[in-house]
Amino acid sequence: MKTIAVMSPKGGIGKTTTADSIAYILGEEHGKRVLVIDGDPQGDTSKTFGAYEPEGIGLSELLERHVNVGGDYRTSELIQTTQYEHIDIIPANGYLMRTDMNLLLKQEENQVTRLRDALTEVSGAYDYCICDCGRLLDMVVINILLSASLVIAPAKVGGFENEALRNLEEQVEDLKEVNPDLKIKVVMTMRQKNKTSLDMELWLHEEYGWKMFTTPIRRSIIAEKATMSMKPLPEFSKRGIVTQDYRNMVEELMREV
Ligand SMILES: Nc1ncnc2c1ncn2[C@@H]1O[C@H](COP(=O)(O)OP(=O)(O)O)[C@@H](O)[C@H]1O
Ligand SMILES: [Mg+2]
Repeated sequence: MKTIAVMSPKGGIGKTTTADSIAYILGEEHGKRVLVIDGDPQGDTSKTFGAYEPEGIGLSELLERHVNVGGDYRTSELIQTTQYEHIDIIPANGYLMRTDMNLLLKQEENQVTRLRDALTEVSGAYDYCICDCGRLLDMVVINILLSASLVIAPAKVGGFENEALRNLEEQVEDLKEVNPDLKIKVVMTMRQKNKTSLDMELWLHEEYGWKMFTTPIRRSIIAEKATMSMKPLPEFSKRGIVTQDYRNMVEELMREV
């Protein structure tokens, strides 16, 4: 099982759209077995895959109450099927914020590798594990980054993109002590075809040396409509330009990992 995290210290930059689209395309279009993990207390990915329950069990229990740490849950008991044949999910809800705090307070040795340990139990059952992250590098997201081999970092024109990416890189560097193979790859999201957009891509790639997906994801109102409909974008808009971009990106991804 290849574990991929979608993370950026910026909010509203397309993390969830990217994670959900990749998961859908891998699972429903390529027939890969996909496990989705929702690492954001907002539960947006859980909503997209029809698994959001404000009081339900999911990633919090995996991190706090797994048999590995003296609790009563096995990983498979916290995985839910979705309406999509090849996609299962470990959902999240607002309780994940408490989980972050509880892990922080515990100061136990395994507090940052709990997800990694728990996932070994099911790694033979899936080809890919796609993790949507929240914006903060909290204990939950650290658990995700220590389970992953690749971090996909969405970036868009018009912000402090290089600073945000640098931040992420520094954080990832620190985590490399425990997870030496972790790599970052940037994907341009909400890309418009104007000079500033194109310059920005060149600048990130050539000036700052970021590894980037050659496929940028274009901006389209369809992506927002898909979010509002709470469906994975590639299901909502099978032929839209953003879906096509994500398909091309997934081709690149499958070649790489
Ligand atoms: N390619 C795109 N074009 C236009 N809007 C987009 C695109 N990708 C995402 N969005 C919209 O931007 C908003 C934030 O996206 P989201 O994926 O939730 O970001 P994050 O998870 O980083 O907060 C959502 O309303 C989403 O529909
Ligand atoms: Mg999100």
